[in-house]
Amino acid sequence: METRLAPKPFSDEKSDMNQPLIFRTLSDMRSQLASWRAQGQRIGFVPTMGALHEGHISLTQIARQKAERVIVSIFVNPTQFAPHEDFNSYPRTFEADLAQLTAAGVDGVYYPSPEIMYPAGFATTVSLTGPAIANLEDRFRPTHFQGVATIVAKLLIQSRADVAVFGQKDFQQLAVISQMVADLNLPVDIIGAPIVREEDGLAKSSRNAYLAAHERALAPALYKSLLNCRTKIKAGGAPDAICAEEAKALSALGFVVDYLEARDSTDLGPAQHANRRLLIAARIGTTRLIDNLAIDE
Ligand code: PAJ
Repeated sequence: METRLAPKPFSDEKSDMNQPLIFRTLSDMRSQLASWRAQGQRIGFVPTMGALHEGHISLTQIARQKAERVIVSIFVNPTQFAPHEDFNSYPRTFEADLAQLTAAGVDGVYYPSPEIMYPAGFATTVSLTGPAIANLEDRFRPTHFQGVATIVAKLLIQSRADVAVFGQKDFQQLAVISQMVADLNLPVDIIGAPIVREEDGLAKSSRNAYLAAHERALAPALYKSLLNCRTKIKAGGAPDAICAEEAKALSALGFVVDYLEARDSTDLGPAQHANRRLLIAARIGTTRLIDNLAIDE
């Protein structure tokens, strides 16, 4: 029960394997971060929605290489879920998350309430074009990136982080955030981190927990189809035809493929001859999975 988890008293000691400081309010986080900053320590920030796995933990390790202090936020952001999506059922596992963040040596956890992030009367959102309207995720989740960008802008401004780390797992999200940070001149370095996978290739995701056993057995086919596409494209085939063929094979296995496309890695526009990326979203039963793979690296 999270109410039993009394925040550790603030201290200037660098944390070791102790529980991270838990900031439930913006002013708690701000005063601690101001004190670390005053000592010349850089702040690395990793935004999450909790239900943490090794993919999230890998981001904290990358942040640790860039900053003396690493903060992870846990906030299931209501504005990035459409009404029919899984906001209410999204896994909330704060105690298990905290245990993993303790083992990872994270310094602070920002765990704000919805009222802190969206007080009554909240009336501002970030409006996006560019990679946010690339006709990929946005085709199926038209309000999603506005919610993501708004909460990420708030988190970056609240923390004044020097560095923030995002996974390439959500590749369009990473492109949207990089574009926003550049356009709004937010003084933070955005780092894209490699996708952490299960042994069978399935990209780790909090939503994998939704998969029934037979769906879980099928799920690695998604990554295999990306590998097949890459092999065939590198052998000189036409990307569109190859993607269509692989999507058809996935449909035959029982997937509903929302998209499988090769795009430019930087702006998600039409694929050029180098710097291309394959992106896929497909549903198995009621679970929607996304993945992507560099073609030319
Ligand atoms: P969430 O889905 O919790 O993911 C938090 C971060 O972990 C994202 O940057 C995501 O790309 C990264 N991540 C997830 N699975 C990964 C994997 N297998 N390998 C590497 N990185 C992985 O993405 C969000 O939360 C939210 O949209 C958020 C940015 C926090 C805004 O609410």
